[in-house]
Amino acid sequence: MLIAGNWKMNGDPSSLEEFGRMIARAPEAAAKGVDLVVCPPAVLIAKCADRATVSMIAVGGQDCHPDPSGAHTGDISAEMLAACGARYVIVGHSERRTDHGETDALVAKKAEAAQRGGLVAIVCVGETEAERDAGDALAVVKRQIEGSLPATLDPAGLVLAYEPVWAIGTGKTPSIDDIAEMHAHIRALLESRFPAVPVLILYGGSVKPGNAAEILAVDNVDGALVGGASLKADDFLGIALAAPNHG
Ligand code: PGA
Repeated sequence: MLIAGNWKMNGDPSSLEEFGRMIARAPEAAAKGVDLVVCPPAVLIAKCADRATVSMIAVGGQDCHPDPSGAHTGDISAEMLAACGARYVIVGHSERRTDHGETDALVAKKAEAAQRGGLVAIVCVGETEAERDAGDALAVVKRQIEGSLPATLDPAGLVLAYEPVWAIGTGKTPSIDDIAEMHAHIRALLESRFPAVPVLILYGGSVKPGNAAEILAVDNVDGALVGGASLKADDFLGIALAAPNHG
């Protein structure tokens, strides 16, 4: 089970204290078979990674450029993230898709770049509220998976995050039946694309300590991608410790 925190554009050097509290409690999560990843803003990655010396908590980026280096002002490559100690990177988050017009084709290039740089790619997909209301959620996610995951990816370095756009930061979550249906759908798509190695599937969107136990117990939910509730160690660990026991 993997619980990944996405701090988004939140945090400053004082957040390192909160991250220190997460490190201190990572062994509690590890005892339940839960790995932790924290994706702070880029300016804090190196400092967080320097502190994250226990193996059960890793640091990740929130985005990467497809190229390893070059004239791309403001961008950061997977290789640069890895050199600063990151082990993961989120690509294709819906906020990147919306704020920066990222397409499935670009997300696919970023996922390949992540693996080229030696990082695990956390690739995000998810439907909008209008798409769900129209009954298109399964088809939209299928299209995003086909477009965002090149067959050349190494499934061992891949995590898929299902995040319904309308559940992100809203306090709303799909029903447990809807999560189960979507995760079974994603499992089948991933198994046909990458038959040899199982890919972890995370649920994301308003996961909190209070709803984590129910969500993490759903079949084919292998963890969570957590935004707001990953900013505080108590909430983040509360989610991790709500996971069903994996030993
Ligand atoms: P949230 O964000 O937990 O604040 O809803 C989830 C995400 O965007 O990854």
